[in-house]
Amino acid sequence: MMTVNEAFRKFKSRLELNDKEQANASARHTEVRDYLDTKFAIERSFLTGSYARHTKTKPLKDIDIFFVLKKSGKDYRSMAPSVILGDFYDALVEKYGKAAVRKQGRSINVDFGVVVDADDNTDYRVMSVDAVPAYAAAEDYEIPDADKGAWIKTNPETHAEKATAAHQAYSSEWKGLVRMVKYWNNNPRHGDDKPVKPSFLIEVMALQCLYGDWQGRFDYEIQAFFATLADRILEAWPDPAGLGPPISDGMDAKQKQRARTLLQTASREASIAIDHARQGRNGEALKAWRALFGPKFPLS
Ligand SMILES: Nc1ncnc2c1ncn2[C@@H]1O[C@H](COP(=O)(O)OP(=O)(O)OP(=O)(O)O)[C@@H](O)[C@H]1O
Ligand SMILES: [Mg+2]
Repeated sequence: MMTVNEAFRKFKSRLELNDKEQANASARHTEVRDYLDTKFAIERSFLTGSYARHTKTKPLKDIDIFFVLKKSGKDYRSMAPSVILGDFYDALVEKYGKAAVRKQGRSINVDFGVVVDADDNTDYRVMSVDAVPAYAAAEDYEIPDADKGAWIKTNPETHAEKATAAHQAYSSEWKGLVRMVKYWNNNPRHGDDKPVKPSFLIEVMALQCLYGDWQGRFDYEIQAFFATLADRILEAWPDPAGLGPPISDGMDAKQKQRARTLLQTASREASIAIDHARQGRNGEALKAWRALFGPKFPLS
């Protein structure tokens, strides 16, 4: 039977991006870009967010694509954020249909109708993308935020640099742990609402909660990570680049309390799983970890 650490290694590799997925993401990017090019004055576009930083979990969905608009084109920047989002929405509905396109606070989501199987596999296909209109602003970008009714500043390069530095300081295990906890966050057993919103908050907290030295055991690391996330989820978490609104603004006080309770439960379940292995009940340990994370955690 496989050991718990071997199971974690396999789990980790199942959450890694592979070549086929990258090829599909790239094809979808090209498809959406070539279409939006016919409707808007777009200077350039690129895949970004957790996808580009390798902190996205599986199944692959909501891959962010920034569409940097030309300043010489229509001056959306001087208008309310809802205007550009409305125009992106209308254009994308024209191509993909109303059922596949959704307005979000800072982007338009396009769903490709990919089916997920019971093991969370999608045949290496990306389920959806988030099309984000953006303007370049010196070193940074400005993107529309319809909920705030304002354009907000962001800098994906800074986020990527911080993630890379944290990863390197943690024996190159940091991104794997972030993907695992984001996978836990997606577990359908939590119901329709994810415990932590936005899931980017998990990565932002990990910048401060996963430090010191990697101790070499996934089970201990994950248990401690859940415990620290539970302890610190009620704190304010600013944008690590110091530009946008606090990442912790995504939840109200009640949602934060719920997140805390669910993180505490995860930490407790992790301790129980560790105890199973300590007592020589390896099969029980693997089952406990799988129940905690979901079907991508292997039993064999
Ligand atoms: N409040 C914010 N201020 C500034 N930049 C932000 C803020 N929230 C998100 N971003 C940037 O926009 C990107 C996309 O946001 P999103 O919520 O999709 O997060 P993500 O990291 O891509 O996580 P997920 O895996 O859930 O898609 C983030 O990766 C980050 O670079
Ligand atoms: Mg994203």
